[in-house]
Amino acid sequence: MIRVHDKVFIPFISKTEIQKRVHELAEMINAEYAGKKPLILGVLNGSFIFAADLFRELTIDAEISFIKLASYKGTSSTGNVVTAIGLEEDLHGRHIIIVEDIIDTGKTMSAFLPEIHHRHPESVKIAVFLTKPEALQYDVKADFTAFRIEDKFVVGYGLDYDGLGRNLPDLYILKDQ
Ligand code: IMP
Ligand code: MG
Repeated sequence: MIRVHDKVFIPFISKTEIQKRVHELAEMINAEYAGKKPLILGVLNGSFIFAADLFRELTIDAEISFIKLASYKGTSSTGNVVTAIGLEEDLHGRHIIIVEDIIDTGKTMSAFLPEIHHRHPESVKIAVFLTKPEALQYDVKADFTAFRIEDKFVVGYGLDYDGLGRNLPDLYILKDQ
């Protein structure tokens, strides 16, 4: 058991299992993107460890860049708008693989995807470390998912609880109170 801030977490997915699964995802990407030189777009902060591990397992030509998302209130018709900070690459005609730590409700990803499509990439796919199918409220689907988990809070492997826990090599899940 570990404690992060005021909460207790228990081991959930070990770094060995994570490593194995990340390798499997990379193999799928290697097969699908051979000769296409995809641009991996990691979404900071949560994805930095997953993106780094996945990227090192790619044997094809691939580029990587990182963006940060900033959300602000749009007009009532547009709702919340999410813009990408640090997106300097020309996406036109590129094969984009967005790398995220987790799709929880799907709100972040659904608000951000139009930003990418506006730039006319050749293709867009999503690679995500975790999804919580029971929590999904928006129409987004990952193309490469490492693990589907129950709707409980997790920390480690890049994911934080109020800023802490990102450096834990294994994934931990909130202990029932
Ligand atoms: P969304 O609900 O899909 O928009 O997810 C929003 C963000 O909430 C994610 O990018 C994570 O940063 C954060 N998040 C959701 N679930 C968890 C969790 O279990 N642990 C840590 N962060 C989470
Ligand atoms: Mg995130």
